[in-house]
Amino acid sequence: MAKFIVQKSGPLMGEVEISGSKNAVLPIMAATLLCEEQCVIMDVPKLRDVDVMSQILVRIGANVKDELEQNKLTVTTSEIAETEPPYGLVSKMRASFVIMGPLLARVGRARIPLPGGCAIGSRPIDLHLKGFAALGAKIVEGSGFVEAQADRLRGTTVYLDFPSVGATENIMMAAVMAEGTTVIENAAEEPEIVDLANFINKMGGRIKGAGTDTIKIEGVEKLHGTTHHVIPDRIETGTFMLAAAITRGNVLIKNSLPDHVKPVIAKLRECGVSVEDTLEGLRVDATRGKFTATDIKTMPYPGFPTDMQSIFMAFLTTVEGKSTVIETVFENRFMHVSELSRMGANITTKDRSATIIGGAKLTGTQVVATDLRAGAALVLAGLVAEDFTEVDEVYHIERGCERFVDKFSALGANIVKESPDSNNYNKYGKAEQ
Ligand code: EPZ
Repeated sequence: MAKFIVQKSGPLMGEVEISGSKNAVLPIMAATLLCEEQCVIMDVPKLRDVDVMSQILVRIGANVKDELEQNKLTVTTSEIAETEPPYGLVSKMRASFVIMGPLLARVGRARIPLPGGCAIGSRPIDLHLKGFAALGAKIVEGSGFVEAQADRLRGTTVYLDFPSVGATENIMMAAVMAEGTTVIENAAEEPEIVDLANFINKMGGRIKGAGTDTIKIEGVEKLHGTTHHVIPDRIETGTFMLAAAITRGNVLIKNSLPDHVKPVIAKLRECGVSVEDTLEGLRVDATRGKFTATDIKTMPYPGFPTDMQSIFMAFLTTVEGKSTVIETVFENRFMHVSELSRMGANITTKDRSATIIGGAKLTGTQVVATDLRAGAALVLAGLVAEDFTEVDEVYHIERGCERFVDKFSALGANIVKESPDSNNYNKYGKAEQ
């Protein structure tokens, strides 16, 4: 497995350009199945997950023109050839489950392998299926797959017991050509939902209320192609904000949308870090002052994002005083705690709560990324830890952050990628750039 070799780095300085949002582009790619005309998607991040979704769309019958060097994808699905994408593809990325809604809307059937759980939780799909059934689909759950069938979907009102992002996206897409109007109550409000709704409305859809807890979808007969620019990635934005903070640096984050990272801005300011929304971008200046501990509680948007929990915790291990972190969204999202503790951090956990006594010296060692955001947290800790930190299983990290090593290196981070066949890392000397 490829790994990152991270060395103690000085304060990160300079500027970084944020890429398009992984969690916005994946459902938007799925939404291209809703029409038979060409859809052009711009500001697409060059990520493994995007490649996997492209492969799935091709298996379903789409023509995908991949110009990811220019961050552009062109997708035309003139007809649906396959409604049962293979397990080997779908199992690579649980987010691919959002193709079920568009397939139901377009051809009235879909048979998708169950996405299964991952390190952070069991990741059930009951709310997705509740929505499809409410719209009139016949659901069959078999061993390892779920099948949905509907001659005609009929608008209805669906209450989500939890404001699930994926369920909101899937049900919204299933409803766009249903007969009548659908209302999703207690819907997720994430910016990625708004971007998806904007894309579908540009295709001729009639969605109102995206970004609130009540989304109304008026069924239309047919959708047409469109062109769309994906929003910047708010979690990548937060990752670089915290990279500046943990290294006591000064970084200008360009092409970000401060409105999408309000909780992260607020919490950094509570710790005493300067965050300014300037005309050039978001400037995080952590070069001055002594920072204070704070408490974090993850919540669905617009609360503090669960995807930033591990990354913020890495920073809190370097801030003197007692901080607490409560994870309310996923049931098992403290996998990074044991790895940070092995680096010398003082963290104890009980159920969904972690207590951090910040200020302990961190020392590099071998650690493993268990999910995309935990991996990023370990890299940030490595930037301020003595000696070398080897972060293994970095494919997790590269799923969510385009040109991760390049962007960090450009800010002065000492980080190199060591692939099994490379020799760019001298075990006894300085990591060569
Ligand atoms: C999306 O996952 C994101 N992924 C996740 O980002 C993010 O952490 C999550 O939303 C929460 O913000 C993508 O957008 C591709 P959920 P999703 O459905 O849709 C429970 C990353 O690092 N639930 O909102 O799978 C579930 O168990 C990833 O980029 C049900 O109970 O998240 C969880 O506890 C990680 N039944 C909670 O809802 C369901 O049918 C939130 O899950 C669905 C979900």
